[in-house]
Amino acid sequence: MTSMTSSDQPTVSSSAADISAAVTPPPGLVIGLEQPHHAAIIESLNDEAFGPDRQKKTVYRFRDGVSHLPELALVAEDEAGAFRGTLRFWPVMIGQTPALLLGPLTVVGGLRKTGVGTRLMWAGLERAKALGHRIVILVGDEPYYSRFGFRRALAEPLSLPGPVDLARFLALELVPGAMDGVTGMVEKWPSEL
Ligand SMILES: CC(C)(COP(=O)(O)OP(=O)(O)OC[C@H]1O[C@@H](n2cnc3c(N)ncnc32)[C@H](O)[C@@H]1OP(=O)(O)O)[C@@H](O)C(=O)NCCC(=O)NCCS
Repeated sequence: MTSMTSSDQPTVSSSAADISAAVTPPPGLVIGLEQPHHAAIIESLNDEAFGPDRQKKTVYRFRDGVSHLPELALVAEDEAGAFRGTLRFWPVMIGQTPALLLGPLTVVGGLRKTGVGTRLMWAGLERAKALGHRIVILVGDEPYYSRFGFRRALAEPLSLPGPVDLARFLALELVPGAMDGVTGMVEKWPSEL
């Protein structure tokens, strides 16, 4: 795993960084970039967590034939290299505006609620901001994702091309005002770009 030391973690000036600094990391947790050998365990973990029908969900339309962004694919491991969790992002378009689709975020069963998901989230969001991304959307549990700044209200001007529980469709501005004037259908990342 290519680990990200504290010097790899960008300093961000948003309130997100302030909250991130308050998180106490689980001892021995290493966040790094996903490597090819992680792919099988990530598929298996996501199948287990979200069920075999997960690929029928509307968000998977954005993943069909589009790769996740390798520079934003994070894994959590313990100091001995044991796998603890995964976070990926996919590129999408909202009209002419590029955005990120966050997820899946999955922590190994038995290790949940120990801060692994939180570490992956802050690392992913800080890295996404440092790489110049401005908007992140997701479909997930608002009680969990609201702590990272995701809001239902920000996603209200947006639509998805299939059935979804709208209460779970959330958005985050990595740059204040990034959602101003952004409206319409979320679309798959165009293959010619
Ligand atoms: C959801 C998930 C990624 C969270 O990661 P985690 O490492 O277990 O969570 P953390 O330790 O970072 O955070 C724990 C906190 O989040 C809360 N939390 C965890 N999952 C939650 C959920 N689905 N909804 C609301 N709150 C949740 C816990 O109650 C705890 O709250 P507290 O800080 O007030 O005590 C993980 O539980 C998981 O992999 N679940 C199965 C897959 C999944 O459902 N993924 C995406 C959710 S849409």
